[in-house]
Amino acid sequence: METKIFDHEKIAAAAALLRQGQLVAFPTETVYGLGAVINNETAVKNVYLAKGRPSDNPLIVHVASPEMVWRYARPNALAQQLMTRFWPGPLTIILPLRPDSLLAVVTGGLTTAAFRMPDNQATLTLIQETGIPIVGPSANTSGKPSPTTAQHVYHDLAGKIAGILDDGPTKVGLESTVVDLSVQPAAVLRPGYITASALTPILGEVETEQHHVAANEIPKAPGMKYKHYAPNAQVLIVAPALDFVAAVQATLPKATGSLGVLAFDDQLQQIAAAGYHVPEVTTFALGDDLQQAAQELFAGLRDFDDRPEIKTILAAGVPENGLGIAYMNRLKKSAGGQFFAFDPVGK
Ligand code: TXA
Ligand code: MG
Repeated sequence: METKIFDHEKIAAAAALLRQGQLVAFPTETVYGLGAVINNETAVKNVYLAKGRPSDNPLIVHVASPEMVWRYARPNALAQQLMTRFWPGPLTIILPLRPDSLLAVVTGGLTTAAFRMPDNQATLTLIQETGIPIVGPSANTSGKPSPTTAQHVYHDLAGKIAGILDDGPTKVGLESTVVDLSVQPAAVLRPGYITASALTPILGEVETEQHHVAANEIPKAPGMKYKHYAPNAQVLIVAPALDFVAAVQATLPKATGSLGVLAFDDQLQQIAAAGYHVPEVTTFALGDDLQQAAQELFAGLRDFDDRPEIKTILAAGVPENGLGIAYMNRLKKSAGGQFFAFDPVGK
C-alpha cells in the first residue's frame, strides 16, 4: 500500500479515506495519532495490526467538540467543566458509557471510554469532515517512542497505512494527561502537560498513584503493562543533581560503539568543552528548558535508534515536579527505570 502524505489543502481527501475504513495518521499538539473511524470494526482492528499493539489496550476516542462526546458517554458535570477549561488541549477524560454506544474493539470491552479533543486545527477539521470520531493511539510501532513528526510516522508505518496528515512537529511532545472520572476520587492514570494540580480546582482531590497491573488485568493506561518508549540502546538516566561530564567520563570506558548523550544545551557545552566529540560521543540537544526537552525527548530517542553504533544512551533527568513528572515518567519507561550511578570507590 502506498502511504500518501496530505497537507492542509488535502484534508477532505484524508477524511474520505477514513470514511472508507482506511487508516490515516493525524497531528495533535501532543504526538501523532493513528486514526480510524470508531464505528468500523475492521478499521479499528487494523489499527492494532499496523502498530503491532496488544488488542486489550483500549483506545482514545478523538472528537471535534464536547457535543460529540455526549453521543456515547453519560452526562457528567465535572467532565463538562474540564472540557470548558482545557479543551481543545492535552487532556483525555475517561467516562462511563451509555450502554452499547461503542464497539468493544474500541473500549477493550470496558464500560468506560477515553475521550479527547486535540488542539490541532487540521485534525479538528479532519474529524468534522469525517463526521465520526476517530480512534487514535500514538502512530508508532508498539513499544517504540511516540512520533512527534510525520516523518517518524512514515518511518514506522509506511506501506501499512493509507495516509498521513502532516502538520509539522508537535508542540507538547508527550502524550496527553489521562484522567479517570469513572472512579471516586478522580485519578490521573498517565501524567502529561496538564498536571494533577491544574486539575484540582475543578476535581478537588486527584489520585495520581500509578497502580501496578497484573498480567491478566486490562491496563488502564499505556506503559502499565507493556514495554514503552524503548529505543534499541540501553538508556541510563543522569539524575539532575549529578555532574553530567563526570557521568560521560565514567561511562565511556564501558560503552561499546558511540555513547549517545541526550542532554540540555548547557550540559552539551560542558561535555564539548571537556573534549568529548563524535565519534566517541554522539549528542542530541534537548534545548534549554523543560518545555523544549519534553518536545524533543522522543525525537532524540528515535534519532539514536537510527544509529546502530549507539548501544548506550545517557539522558538528562529533571526534577519531578510540574511538567517534569510527565517527562520523567516517559524517560523512566524508555530506560526501564535505570539510572546512571558512579561505581563505588575502590572497585
Ligand atoms: O496524546 C495522546 O493521548 C495521543 C494522541 C495521538 O492523542 N494518544 C495516545 O493514545 O497516547 P494511546 O492509545 O497511546 O494511549 C491512550 C491510553 C490507552 O493506552 C489506554 O491505556 C488508556 O489511554 N485508556 C483508553 N481507554 C481507557 C479506558 N476506558 N479506561 C482506562 N484507560 C483507558
Ligand atoms: Mg502510545
